[in-house]
Amino acid sequence: MRMDPANPVPPVVHHRVGMDQVPPHVPKELIRSAMIAYGSEFLAAPHDYMAGLHETMPPLWYDVGAMGNAWQAIKHEDALHVLRHAELFNNEDATPFPRDPDDYFYFIPIEIDPPDHRKYRNIVDPVLSPKAVLELEGRIRQLANELIDGFIAKGECEFAEDFGRPLPVYVFLELMGLPLDMCPTFVSWAIELLHSNDRAIMGESLRKISEYLKVAIADKQAHPDDKVISRIVHAAPNGEPLSEKEIFGFAVFLFIAGLDTVFATLNNIWLYLAENPDKRQELIDDPENITAQTEELLRVFSVTFSGRTVSQDTELRGVQLKKGDKITCILPACNFDPEAFPNPREVNFHRPRKTILAFTVGVHSCMGAHLARLEVKIALQEWLKRIPEFRVKPGTKIEYRPGGVVGPEQVPLEWDPATTA
Ligand code: HEM
Repeated sequence: MRMDPANPVPPVVHHRVGMDQVPPHVPKELIRSAMIAYGSEFLAAPHDYMAGLHETMPPLWYDVGAMGNAWQAIKHEDALHVLRHAELFNNEDATPFPRDPDDYFYFIPIEIDPPDHRKYRNIVDPVLSPKAVLELEGRIRQLANELIDGFIAKGECEFAEDFGRPLPVYVFLELMGLPLDMCPTFVSWAIELLHSNDRAIMGESLRKISEYLKVAIADKQAHPDDKVISRIVHAAPNGEPLSEKEIFGFAVFLFIAGLDTVFATLNNIWLYLAENPDKRQELIDDPENITAQTEELLRVFSVTFSGRTVSQDTELRGVQLKKGDKITCILPACNFDPEAFPNPREVNFHRPRKTILAFTVGVHSCMGAHLARLEVKIALQEWLKRIPEFRVKPGTKIEYRPGGVVGPEQVPLEWDPATTA
């Protein structure tokens, strides 16, 4: 059904949960429960767990669990098929975030299917193009160095709090035209929304984000600037301004998509580098290869998933999928598919080029991918220039939050100040 984002209505979706809601077309031998994103085995070592799915699970299985039943795809080839066929796999109800049915809105652009989807991308894509984000390079380097200045002499930091989080969040807030001193508040809202299994907490966090953004949108209406929120507020695709619901749904989704993802990615990468000095040295010794190095680290430490709904009966890997079924592409697992990336757990900075799925592919591929790649690259360069040797503080227990963005909660690091610059 074609949706009208200006007049949103809650989708009529049959959420299946548990064994008694497995539809009859699902072969019994393909039913499993992997508890992705929340099970204790997953949370003990998420990327290892997802890499291991290629040994423990069928390539496509029907997952039954507390968070909802859905097909799970872990083959690179299958994910490319699903994600590139928006006519077979749609984005209705693509996010898990609860909304008030009496004041409903769509998360834009993620919940909008083609052709309407393009109209929204056209508003913001130019600000996030490879050329446009390069203009932010100097500012990102400056921010990275200012943050490092704050702790380098101490010989220690809590990476997540002192660097991994503030760097991308400041860049994002500047891009959006939102005040930097709101950083801690925004971050706490995003954590409640993205890492809670409790729909009441998620709903409350979304309410706080909504209240704040409604005021910010009104302010941009009165005082336009050249930042992203203002661009959305004053956009008029085909001569028609966006409705309040469209503006709001777009602003709020950018907030959700842009705040937590780079943060989680940096935390994963720094934990890995702290534990693998040989790989750190490779980065330092081969600075010309930074683009491939960044891409390889993004392959191994991708942090999120693509959920779709089957629009019409179809077949995947010889299995019948029926209209209304849910399917999740476990992107980090697809990036460990040995058929696509031989010896997939090895971090190899000289792999032949191949599409990685960290940012998904197809019409909904990540709008912030060029910015995210640039941030990771600059963070690596600036950090390793100044703190080439570092390790995880002894006695640290690394813990992961459940939720749709995968990364360690805290990464306490230490180094000898005499080795820094
Ligand atoms: C390393 C960091 C990032 C990762 C791994 C990432 C990953 C993703 C993925 C996998 C999707 C597709 C979701 C789906 O198919 O359901 C996506 C979509 C999206 N991302 Fe990102 N993202 C990152 C950073 C960002 C940033 C910084 C922004 C904003 C400035 C952003 C904005 C978006 C938007 C707006 C979409 C929806 C695109 C659409 O529906 O057309 N992302 N991202």
